[in-house]
Amino acid sequence: MTEPVVDIHLAEDHAARALAADARAGLSASPKTLPPKWFYDARGSDLFEQITRLPEYYPTRAEREILGARAAEIAAASQAHTLVELGSGSSEKTRLLLDSLRAAGTLHQFVPLDVSRTALLDAAAALAEDYPSLLVHGVVGDFTEHLSLLPGEAPRMVAFLGGTIGNLLPAERAKFLSSLRDVLAPGEWLLLGTDLVKDPETVRVAYDDSAGVTAEFNKNVLHVLNRELNADFDVDAFTHTAMWDPENEWIEMRLRAERAMEVHIAALDLTVTFDKDEELHTEISAKFRKEGITAELADAGFDMTCWWTDTADRFGLSLSQAV
Ligand SMILES: C[S@@+](CC[C@H](N)C(=O)[O-])C[C@H]1O[C@@H](n2cnc3c(N)ncnc32)[C@H](O)[C@@H]1O
Repeated sequence: MTEPVVDIHLAEDHAARALAADARAGLSASPKTLPPKWFYDARGSDLFEQITRLPEYYPTRAEREILGARAAEIAAASQAHTLVELGSGSSEKTRLLLDSLRAAGTLHQFVPLDVSRTALLDAAAALAEDYPSLLVHGVVGDFTEHLSLLPGEAPRMVAFLGGTIGNLLPAERAKFLSSLRDVLAPGEWLLLGTDLVKDPETVRVAYDDSAGVTAEFNKNVLHVLNRELNADFDVDAFTHTAMWDPENEWIEMRLRAERAMEVHIAALDLTVTFDKDEELHTEISAKFRKEGITAELADAGFDMTCWWTDTADRFGLSLSQAV
């Protein structure tokens, strides 16, 4: 079997220090908040994969439908030698792109990047085995920090799928897109998956499924804090909530304390108090409109050349070129 190359930019001590800093800042803030990247330990990544198969969770199926219909067109337009994937997870849908780029005869290298070490290592090993002629060069890293370290021969196409860009706040999104533009040469490509604004109930149930998998995923961040920072969160004393915010056009996941409590975070020498019904903000998932994302891309220095949706208009996939 061909072994993938893997660069680790998030060594375990770095990840622990970054988690400690985020937990100290976020749990001392009002309202309390934690960045969504800390959901994704091995269990969190596995729960996310389960979410992608839930009947209520349409984004994965919708994006796969678009990729299935358009991958050959994307390969022909980009002629990419390197495919980079940010927040790659299992890279399952990405196989559609790899197949088309391989058939087009241009692709040499695949660079998946993910903060989740286990997801990255598992995906890189599986892809190296299934695509033996491809150099698989995985990166364990943070797409808000490590874009300048991405390997790969030009022309590159950077895929950012799954609607993950919606987990960034608008200001973070602008910063991320312009950092990405800065590391690309003019003419290189961004393939961006964006979940679209639609009726709020369809969105809400996608983030509050009847089997309770999303609730487990949301609460997983408390298990991560208990294990990594020696905290004593009573995970069962928190309830998962998902609320549509019509003004910001995003769905917001929170964890609501069912009773007043004190939580000790031994590694931070920190005690945090929760009032009954106090909510810890864990993730936003912004939904987009074509005009809005076109303008955000243009502001960052990208020219959108193609825009596709699934047949039910739930999800948008855009191909843009760095100008
Ligand atoms: C919503 S999932 C999407 C996974 C996959 N791209 C898909 O479309 O199914 C988000 C992925 O991004 C990763 N992730 C989240 N925040 C990240 C960050 N700051 N840097 C790198 N990866 C991140 C997670 O580990 C997870 O694999």
